[in-house]
Amino acid sequence: MKGVVLAGGYGTRFYPVTRVVNKHLLDVFDEPVVYYPIRSLVGAGIEEVVLVTILEEVDQFKKLLGDGTELGVKISYATQEGAGGIAQALLMAKPFVENENLMVVLGDNIFQGDLSEYVESFEKQGKGAKILLKQVSHDDARRFGVADVKDGKIIGIQEKPSHPRSDLIVTGCYMYDSRVFDLIATLDPSPRGELEVTDLNNLYIDEGTMSYDVLSGWWTDAGTPASKLKASILVALEKGVTFHR
Ligand code: DAU
Repeated sequence: MKGVVLAGGYGTRFYPVTRVVNKHLLDVFDEPVVYYPIRSLVGAGIEEVVLVTILEEVDQFKKLLGDGTELGVKISYATQEGAGGIAQALLMAKPFVENENLMVVLGDNIFQGDLSEYVESFEKQGKGAKILLKQVSHDDARRFGVADVKDGKIIGIQEKPSHPRSDLIVTGCYMYDSRVFDLIATLDPSPRGELEVTDLNNLYIDEGTMSYDVLSGWWTDAGTPASKLKASILVALEKGVTFHR
């Protein structure tokens, strides 16, 4: 199984700082944001990772991560032109992947602990895809892909709905079989001009081959100033830091 970290996009929610530094190279507590998804992959037993980012900024990542030795993994780099969406970024990893299953983690997603139990259950599944869901507050759900689950089965995902049908959101960890690139090739851009990961996941759901697990540990994205601050606090608490007023 190969790992993919998607670290493209322009990080506009962090302007002006992301005019000069890529969002994934900012810090969450004491480490760069991008270390966390890489560690999630390494913890799940992945040995080779493709990191996708924008051409103008790939050298910053190479300077930080090199060939990945320090984080215990082999890293290759692929680039995306512009920010055409998460599914488009994933397509850029195709030349590095040969007929293998994939574990994809979004570059701004921070997961507590080890994800290997979920990967093991996906490996047993044989075909299709698996996503990891997390319960959040109803207000927060509007920022994410929201899962519609009926009788224990996922029947659809809505991207950033104004009226979420549930509080179960789709985190940025996706496991796919090797057909994923062919499925991405069938997607049309959404109204905002992106190839949406939610449209990709809905293809697997319609096919009846999407499974899900609900995460037991905490999870947050670090994609807004507020959520990045929350991520820093969660990581600091995890590392035993105490705060005094
Ligand atoms: O964090 C989980 C959420 O991530 C999911 O619940 C949503 O369904 C999913 O669409 C995504 O929503 P965001 O609004 O957080 O996506 P964002 O555009 O911030 O992109 C998340 C990461 O994906 C970002 O850190 C880098 C990568 N990305 C994104 C785009 C648009 C790319 O590599 N290339 C891109 O073109």
